Amino acid sequence: STTGQDFKVADLSLASFGRKEITLAEHEMPGLMAIRREYAADKPLAGARVTGSLHMTVQTAVLIETLVALGAEVRWASCNIFSTQDHAAAAIAVGPEGTADNPQGIPVFAWKGETLEEYWWCTEQALTWPNTPTGGPNMILDDGGDATLLVHKGVEYEKAGAAPSVDTAENDEHRVILQLLNRTLSENAQKWTQLASEIRGVTEETTTGVHRLYEMQQAGSLLFPAINVNDSVTKSKFDNKYGCRHSLVDGINRATDVLIGGKVALVCGYGDVGKGCAESLRGQGARVLITEVDPICALQAAMDGYQVVTLDDAVETADIFVTTTGNKDIIMASDMAKMKHQAIVGNIGHFDNEIDMAGLAAIDGIVKDEVKPQVHTWTWPDGKILIVLSEGRLLNLGNATGHPSFVMSNSFANQTIAQIELFTKPESYPTDVYVLPKHLDEKVARLHLDALGVKLTTLRPEQAAYIGVPVEGPYKPDHYRY
Ligand code: NAI
Repeated sequence: STTGQDFKVADLSLASFGRKEITLAEHEMPGLMAIRREYAADKPLAGARVTGSLHMTVQTAVLIETLVALGAEVRWASCNIFSTQDHAAAAIAVGPEGTADNPQGIPVFAWKGETLEEYWWCTEQALTWPNTPTGGPNMILDDGGDATLLVHKGVEYEKAGAAPSVDTAENDEHRVILQLLNRTLSENAQKWTQLASEIRGVTEETTTGVHRLYEMQQAGSLLFPAINVNDSVTKSKFDNKYGCRHSLVDGINRATDVLIGGKVALVCGYGDVGKGCAESLRGQGARVLITEVDPICALQAAMDGYQVVTLDDAVETADIFVTTTGNKDIIMASDMAKMKHQAIVGNIGHFDNEIDMAGLAAIDGIVKDEVKPQVHTWTWPDGKILIVLSEGRLLNLGNATGHPSFVMSNSFANQTIAQIELFTKPESYPTDVYVLPKHLDEKVARLHLDALGVKLTTLRPEQAAYIGVPVEGPYKPDHYRY
């Protein structure tokens, strides 16, 4: 890796490969590129210092360069230890004008296969802006909420005058965070408080990060306004669903190459991600089972033709297990003990607490072996083997390359619009959690129609009056669920 410069990536020589894929991705991201063209002259993000914490992929590279084209300065880290595409990170560090010998790009701190210490170091680097008034960003673009969490925990502990001792840590990751914040407190007891004072807001990408934001809002601890990008219709009903429909089987295939047809696959959770995953596996000919806690989603799964079971019902017979819940403790070590030989276990939810990896490692006599990076066998003393993908972390980004460009163009068009909203109209957004107005959601969809040859019908004025909507939209009330 490269040090001594204001970035850290795996291998700068991958930059030209990354640049080629970025160029191909731009064509597949028509919404994002249209927004880039629309705002390039105005530069609404001039003066914005955006800290991004979001999977450093080829698609994210196009997002980053869009923010820069709109006038922003950017510092970036990945939001998962396995999700960086090293060629994309290298291309961002080098920049379109630079070379591997003379990098001129963006401070990016990301490589595939970070340790937890490295991961949180990278997050801190992305949040630390040299030579600025507060030493920090004035905008955050988050995925899962780790950058936002670090700032909030930092401020909380600075107010208290101390961070909890590392001995109180609940797990490895918590210990790393406490270590980091104990260090920053000893270096500068106002680091996070100063930094937070200038942050105009955060735009949050995913269900899990949004959940954290609403918790802080309800607790009264949210420090700055937030836009919930996930709940734009053109995000969660597209990325979470159609994105996972693509990238779930991509991850399983690249990891194992096992034939999915005919196998029994169990998908835990039938929300947006679960719906995409179930369809993806069914498309390959798997017999798909669902677990759910929500009667509405369970009924949807049944009406979509899936059998809805409990984990206990299927744990001994299913071949492939996928968790999609955003909840914790979904598949425990005691469940994995009952699974059949060479069953495959993976998670596509945001965090790694859906599968009890610590419990698995603690089983008496169990042996972990690496088949290749992000694919491990766990062998019981009696010879039974379980295949675990990405150590329980989101497998579509760990074992494959995440969602393809076209769907991410929708998500990232929402992200860019949300950044512009919060940065340019701070007076319209007192501290709270917001979703983008529907006309902007419809705009994002509109920007993707031409590329797919979609021809929209135009409402006639009498028809618009009859159903009570403007001819130019928005076409649905806010409570409509699509
Ligand atoms: P969602 O809330 O729409 O769906 C989750 C579903 O899991 C809900 O229907 C819920 O009832 C169900 N569930 C909760 N506890 C359960 C349990 N114990 N057993 C069975 N089902 C249970 O959330 P969404 O949008 O589907 O996101 C799920 C997770 O995936 C989140 O962590 C999100 O951040 C993440 N995500 C990951 C992506 C990826 O590319 N890997 C893309 C988008 C989201």
